[in-house]
Amino acid sequence: MSLRTIVNVVGARPNFVKIAPIHRQMLKCPELRPVLIHTGQHYDQKMSQAFFEDLHMPEPDQYLGVGSGTHGEQTGAVMIALERLFAEIKPDQVVVVGDVNSTLAAALVAAKMHIPIAHVEAGLRSFDRTMPEEINRICTDAISDQLFVTEQSGLDHLAHEGVSPDKIFFTGNVMIDSLVEHLQKARENPILVEMGVKPRDYALMTLHRPSNVDNAEMLDTIFSAIEVLQRDLPVLFPMHPRTGKMIAAFGMEERLKSWKNLITVPPLAYLPFLRLLSEAACVITDSGGIQEETTYLDIPCLTLRESTERPITITLGSNRLVPLQTQAIIEQARLALNGGFKRKSIPPLWDGHASERIVEVLRR
Ligand code: UD1
Repeated sequence: MSLRTIVNVVGARPNFVKIAPIHRQMLKCPELRPVLIHTGQHYDQKMSQAFFEDLHMPEPDQYLGVGSGTHGEQTGAVMIALERLFAEIKPDQVVVVGDVNSTLAAALVAAKMHIPIAHVEAGLRSFDRTMPEEINRICTDAISDQLFVTEQSGLDHLAHEGVSPDKIFFTGNVMIDSLVEHLQKARENPILVEMGVKPRDYALMTLHRPSNVDNAEMLDTIFSAIEVLQRDLPVLFPMHPRTGKMIAAFGMEERLKSWKNLITVPPLAYLPFLRLLSEAACVITDSGGIQEETTYLDIPCLTLRESTERPITITLGSNRLVPLQTQAIIEQARLALNGGFKRKSIPPLWDGHASERIVEVLRR
């Protein structure tokens, strides 16, 4: 039996949640040698290490430490470091997940070195090319050899783009694998008591999209809605570092601090965040993955974006796109709190076993 070296590349917070169950599944296969490479796109303890701990992930075999920068700097730095490393490790296959800059950088390097690429979470499209993630998704899919898909829309888009059907595998959602695995443990997490909130009696908010947080007017539109909503119920706001920096740069800190019921905290690790998600009265977000997690948990989710690359969270799930207007956010949040955003069903194959199906294909 010849040992196959498979490199799993991660860089940013959502990648860790997606690769954890895949890497673990590979470790069970005697013919596979999984190598975990962390690019260091996210590097703060709270954005990175805390997730490795909560998800019981092994230390990365290699840490590239590329850190922050412009898109070109960050993508380029990952490419330069990975090219050297791939030449040394000589992987038989590279696995990339999601849509962050590290995903595209790793795929580009592998493609040029003729190393087969598997892309997990392929085929999603927002059709908004101003989003860096959309460019990363389109380019990564175009050069991948195996495309693992989470929902029907992904199958439709890849077919429409002329991708050969024998490259496409409908295997489900690995983010839900992690959720299913850790939900029980998350329910024991003391974060609700620590925050002084009661189940189903708070809203949970996350914001980090450049289109929302790098723009003072947009942030003002959103926070003007939050100012009103926090009079109805506590709003918990774990703050992404990018968002924290922009709020400070726009001089908005004092205004936010003056609202009694807005509870701002640093980014949270996986387990406390999952506990907060699972017991929220509603969630307000611009994240991609949180739309899926709230759908699985049947928690009303307001997505503050004009489009979603995850439409099944709307057609079957408890997610709604909300126009970026103060009044619309307030109205939709109140509707959500009054039971207006019900899930129809859990999307097909979001069952906690996606990583098993993916690794089965990779072993063939
Ligand atoms: C990235 C992904 C986005 C994903 C998000 C999850 C891209 C293009 N974007 O966005 O798709 O949804 O991660 O969080 O890859 N920073 C820190 N400490 C950290 C990491 C970041 O302070 O550990 C700050 C830096 O100022 C940095 C900024 O956050 O410049 C943005 O980080 P970056 O990784 O470039 O993009 P995200 O906004 O996190």
